[in-house]
Amino acid sequence: MMANRSMLELKGISKAFGAIVVASDIDLTLSRGEALGVIGPNGAGKSTLFNLITGMLRPDRGRIILEGEDITQMPPEARCRAGLGRSFQIPLPFTHLTVFENLSVAALFGAQVSEAEAVQLCGEILSLTGLETKANVLAGSLPLLDRKRLELARALATRPRILLLDEIAGGLTDAECHLLVETIREIRKGGVAIIWIEHVVHALLAVVDGLIALDFGKIATQGAPADVMRSKEVQAIYMGVPA
Ligand SMILES: Nc1ncnc2c1ncn2[C@@H]1O[C@H](COP(=O)(O)OP(=O)(O)O)[C@@H](O)[C@H]1O
Ligand SMILES: [Mg+2]
Repeated sequence: MMANRSMLELKGISKAFGAIVVASDIDLTLSRGEALGVIGPNGAGKSTLFNLITGMLRPDRGRIILEGEDITQMPPEARCRAGLGRSFQIPLPFTHLTVFENLSVAALFGAQVSEAEAVQLCGEILSLTGLETKANVLAGSLPLLDRKRLELARALATRPRILLLDEIAGGLTDAECHLLVETIREIRKGGVAIIWIEHVVHALLAVVDGLIALDFGKIATQGAPADVMRSKEVQAIYMGVPA
């Protein structure tokens, strides 16, 4: 087999709900170690893109290739075990379990490690995400920053090779946002490739190598972050939309 730098490829992915086209002929390549940002207005199809990649939705057309293997028909749990981890835009932790227990569930079922390995892995993730002092706190009683951290930590506990982050910076203070950016940079250094959907553009630009702008389920433009931000397409999409 030929060496292939791409970890994840979407080829001609399309999806409609009735008359609403939420993904239209999407081609996307994520290279090894790359971090890609995704921007676009509400309803553009960003979260839907993650649902298609993780298998929560099946495309009407197109193929998804992970490390050279066609996973278009693979169920979500198998994709998770194959290295695709995600955070959800609306965090859904087990509210009556502790932070540590939430991570353990993700590690045991997602990363499929032994109990001893799960304890070790969860400990590492707690410190990476700044949750070490909150290990025994019930997830349901965490303030916003810690809920965001837990959402990131839960995704990491499945030991992803590709991490999909859906709007994790919204609502944080500048200082909190800065901490989050530092954490995501650390995760990258560990060799994890990232696709990050984010409205907080300055946070995104501090991390990503490439940017994709989605609008009405289509890639309006993609490329180097600065070029995309300056592009006619992005100017048009955000015209009248407060930054
Ligand atoms: N399960 C679904 N059934 C019907 N419509 C959906 C479903 N999921 C998303 N949509 C619609 O698809 C469009 C894109 O949604 P979404 O991907 O959540 O947008 P974004 O994350 O960019 O804000 C929206 O119009 C939304 O209402
Ligand atoms: Mg969304």
